[in-house]
Amino acid sequence: MDSTQLSVTCIAPVNIAVIKYWGKRNESLILPINDSLSVTLSTADLCSKTKIIADAKFTDNVMILNGKEENFENERIQRCVKEIKARAAELGSCPKELLEWKIHIESENNFPTAAGLASSASGYACLVYSLAQLYDLKKQEISDIARMGSGSACRSIYGGFVQWQKGIQLDGKDSIAFQVAPASHWPDLHVLILVVNDSKKKIGSTSGMARSVVTSELIKYRVEKCVPQRIHSMTQAIKDRDFSKFAEVTMKDSNQFHAICLDTFPPCVYMNDVSHEIVNYIHEFNRTEGETKVAYTFDAGPNACLYLLEKNVKRVLSFVNHIFPNDNQKSAEYVRGIPVEYESE
Ligand code: PMV
Repeated sequence: MDSTQLSVTCIAPVNIAVIKYWGKRNESLILPINDSLSVTLSTADLCSKTKIIADAKFTDNVMILNGKEENFENERIQRCVKEIKARAAELGSCPKELLEWKIHIESENNFPTAAGLASSASGYACLVYSLAQLYDLKKQEISDIARMGSGSACRSIYGGFVQWQKGIQLDGKDSIAFQVAPASHWPDLHVLILVVNDSKKKIGSTSGMARSVVTSELIKYRVEKCVPQRIHSMTQAIKDRDFSKFAEVTMKDSNQFHAICLDTFPPCVYMNDVSHEIVNYIHEFNRTEGETKVAYTFDAGPNACLYLLEKNVKRVLSFVNHIFPNDNQKSAEYVRGIPVEYESE
């Protein structure tokens, strides 16, 4: 390796929330109004890959996302880079001159960006994780920095089942993610993603959330009366590997999140007719099977994420292919699993 150049490459997976984060109490620090809980998918599936080169000879900082140059001065990118560098400087974790070198960042997703498939979660988790490797902050807490890029990104710093505690401090230092259980705790839990539409979403989560916090009545009820109990039941369901409870809470929370979106004024509509059909078919499927075999959840987009046990994957896939036989309803199977990987040069 050239001594005036240092390079790292990392991959980070997406996470799919089963208790949704929706609403901020502090927009610039990205502090949420409620705790959330998610499952991190395997890095073999949906993920972001980021390469960062720091070079004494570079004259500019550069950011390239999916082959296109982005504005490096973007507020969120700046916040992440500045915060990581400040911590590295404070701890003296790397040579001082390395912090002065300009950096070139190249990042790509292996799935559609901003289509409600959690691209910002894996993207910012990967950016912050890569920066932490570059500046040698390996054992430090970095989920609060990933959070400053995109809230849900803090959960992608860990693998398995991950909770993001909202925290109570004004500076957000306690608004961090932690692992509830490793992926190996429940290896036969799978995720099936039904891509209903992979075009860019109309209302971004930042503006949707801001509008909900100001205009929705239901959001207050959710935050105070529903989420704390749901986090408790979900954690217990995961500990007990109780699929039926896990599925019930997941579906109820997805429905409530979208009810809040409709209670927002003007409403934020993320699910479409196909999404609603999927919901109906799944309830019907579970009823006729005599047990809950599959759970749906929808983020800020029309695509469905289905949670199910391995033994039911075949049966559910054939059911999905039966109801949506044509090719424009793409479907794919993804398993979830291991923590963020790091490949150093
Ligand atoms: O992190 P953001 O700003 O992309 O917000 C994500 C919000 C949801 O995906 C809808 C819910 C969640 O908890 O991931």
